[in-house]
Amino acid sequence: DKVSILPGAASEVWRYTAERVAGPEGSLTPVGDSYTGPLIRLHRGQRLRVRIDNGLPEDTTVHWHGLHVPSDVDGQPRLPIAPATSKTVAFDVVDRAGLYWYHPHPHGPDGGRVGFQSYAGLAGPLLITDDTERALGLPDGEQELVLILQDRTFTDGNELQYLGAGMGSMMTRIRGFRGERVLVNGRPDARREVATRPYRLRLLNGSNSRIYKLAWNDGRAVTVIGTDGGLLAKPERRRSVTLAPAQRIDLWVDFGDTGPGESVQLVSEEYQLGMMGGRGMMGGGGMMGQGMMGEQMGDMMDRGMMGEMMGSERIPLVTFAVVARANDSATLPQRLAQDLPASPVQADTPVRRFELGMRMMQGFTMNGRRMEGATVADDEIVRLGQTEVWEFVNNTMMPHPIHVHGLQFLVHERIPAGGKTDLHDGIIDAGLHDTVLVFPEERVRIALTFESFEGLYMYHCHNMEHEDTGMMRYFKVV
Ligand code: C2O
Ligand code: CU
Ligand code: CU
Repeated sequence: DKVSILPGAASEVWRYTAERVAGPEGSLTPVGDSYTGPLIRLHRGQRLRVRIDNGLPEDTTVHWHGLHVPSDVDGQPRLPIAPATSKTVAFDVVDRAGLYWYHPHPHGPDGGRVGFQSYAGLAGPLLITDDTERALGLPDGEQELVLILQDRTFTDGNELQYLGAGMGSMMTRIRGFRGERVLVNGRPDARREVATRPYRLRLLNGSNSRIYKLAWNDGRAVTVIGTDGGLLAKPERRRSVTLAPAQRIDLWVDFGDTGPGESVQLVSEEYQLGMMGGRGMMGGGGMMGQGMMGEQMGDMMDRGMMGEMMGSERIPLVTFAVVARANDSATLPQRLAQDLPASPVQADTPVRRFELGMRMMQGFTMNGRRMEGATVADDEIVRLGQTEVWEFVNNTMMPHPIHVHGLQFLVHERIPAGGKTDLHDGIIDAGLHDTVLVFPEERVRIALTFESFEGLYMYHCHNMEHEDTGMMRYFKVV
């Protein structure tokens, strides 16, 4: 099944040059025979220097998603790289071992191009290792697989198609782009040959807006060992795991009891909307309540499209075909990371509140505001060294994966309003995160500490169409 991509897109025109200037080995390897950016492997403590040549006909940037880097190398839209120019950025790799990623972040007066450029292939994985992680002896080498989940739609000519036209494209902007096929590392019908031994799967949801509910087709539990910011203190087992756009999850799976000749499939399950949206979906503070294209939305619900809007079909992701016996069997350590911070939240920790809303005919907002260049309001200024609780209150009918640049945070508290959905069962709030999913009518409190670097950073919804249409703001560390 051959997939051709937009002529001139991605690797054709955008070259990443990574040079190791200090520290142990770093490397750059193609992820597969497709459009995704190369896998950048780094070791904690090294210094990375990257030259970005912009061969696109438009501005771009490269953002290091999840990494604690100075503001001026964070790849923010205020520092665009113009066509036919290049830029070199360098920073120290200080983050914990984990799977991070990089993607473009341009945003001009007419809106963002994160969705389009990422879709066309300008995003890739970045894997940091360190000695403490290596000492745990988790599966590595051929037993460690980086898997990027992205959904795409193809034209009859087998080219990537983004957004579509007319009404379809308007709805797409509201809910975010949803492709017809889910690709893994840029390829359809992903299949991996494995042996009867444990594997470590490093998954990145690099999709524009799709939320996955990961599960095994034979009903075995999903064993989670890490999140956005690296390993958990101990493994967590779930029937399914919810992975929102931009999030990463680190899974451990043992094919030891699967006989050669058999296969096991990682799928994204169908999920029940349950009470999701509740009052928000039907009125109240939600999209409908504010008259946002009420007629069309009502129409969509009549046609039973709400499920489709949330993406509720069962999708096979990767087939693991067990083809060989292996003698080595490793067991999963029950104690993983020892370096996770305890909650920094005290009785007097300041709480900053962000209401996620919707403005008629414009799009989603945060505290009633939308992206306005690199400006910050008085209540978007934080102190260097300070710990704060940020509370996100979702007054819309859609889930929003909220991302904060430049740091990893703890999820302090999650307060679902009304009914829990079965997506809640798969939420992993333990560990460190840079992107947290906030369901409709829910409030989520995260604990963040603004360390080392002053300057401008960003917080935004990582539904790429939401951020591109303005659900994004800067904040300033002073
Ligand atoms: Cu993936 Cu502004 O980030
Ligand atoms: Cu980011
Ligand atoms: Cu959103």
